[in-house]
Amino acid sequence: MFPIQRLRRLRQTAALRDLVQERWLAMGQLVYPIFIRAGSDQKIPIRSMPGIYQWSVDRALEHLAVVQAMGVRAVLVFGIPAHKDPLGSEAYDPNGVIQVALKKFKEHFPGLIWIADLCLCEYTDHGHCGVLRGKTVDNDASLDLLARTAVAQASAGADLVAPSDMMDGRVGAIRRALDEEGFENISIMSYAVKYASAFYGPFREAAENTPEFGDRKSYQMNPANRREALREVDLDIAEGADIVIVKPAMPYLDVLSDVKARVNVPVAAYQVSGEYSMIMAATQHGWMDERAVVEESLLGMRRAGADIIITYFAPRYGQWLQQKKG
Ligand code: PBG
Repeated sequence: MFPIQRLRRLRQTAALRDLVQERWLAMGQLVYPIFIRAGSDQKIPIRSMPGIYQWSVDRALEHLAVVQAMGVRAVLVFGIPAHKDPLGSEAYDPNGVIQVALKKFKEHFPGLIWIADLCLCEYTDHGHCGVLRGKTVDNDASLDLLARTAVAQASAGADLVAPSDMMDGRVGAIRRALDEEGFENISIMSYAVKYASAFYGPFREAAENTPEFGDRKSYQMNPANRREALREVDLDIAEGADIVIVKPAMPYLDVLSDVKARVNVPVAAYQVSGEYSMIMAATQHGWMDERAVVEESLLGMRRAGADIIITYFAPRYGQWLQQKKG
């Protein structure tokens, strides 16, 4: 009790504050998402995400050299195909955009960790994450295509596959397919807890995956639900998930904390496009300090339990760390 206890004693200098700091951020914990489109010599700005682009593979190689120099160690790859159809066939085509990209990236940057986003929504002409039966997404019919996509991505060089479709049973289907094809060492980083969130708004422009009709509420989680997240992670881990993701991050820190307390696999938080764009919009107006706000948002996720953070800020954060050192 005061005056014996004075919490300000350990806050007097920067060195003391560092000494007792409970959570740190390191570049090794961050994953940088990138958007790859078919074609060459393309660097297309995404208006709703200042500083983020769609890249053709050749231009992406230049960008990747830069982000690697900034300290990025892991990259999550999204593909924007040339061709869309009802079954999303370019997702599992060995010559599809993401497979071609992964092959090149792995060859040029074998030291980076390559994570393939695994979903059909960028590849289907209707923009849903599975195949349709009438106006509903057919869960079980989608599993085979997701499993084939995982095998195609692993064959192209993905180190991890990250299923983001939210079909029931897909982790198990993917694990079995990978193992049958000799990819038993390819990990599954599952978007186990993915909410039907308006914070994905800017991503729709980035990945060109807006559903043609309806929304994703029949497969993504209801934002009002907390307990249900634990059922999702339990099932995914039982089916073979090596890492589980909670997404979005900032509006769901309670869920992140629950998941962390529950499981023994590494837990990742995804700071999604809308979280990125809100920070960028405000800081570009000069309403908040970008570096301070980004650091605080990422530390909040670490504090809530994230072992890994997927963030569009990863290269910029790396740059700030280097400035600090220099
Ligand atoms: C779908 C997918 C989405 C995101 C990652 N994978 C969007 C969606 O489900 O509509 C969102 C990522 C972001 O907003 O940054 N495969």
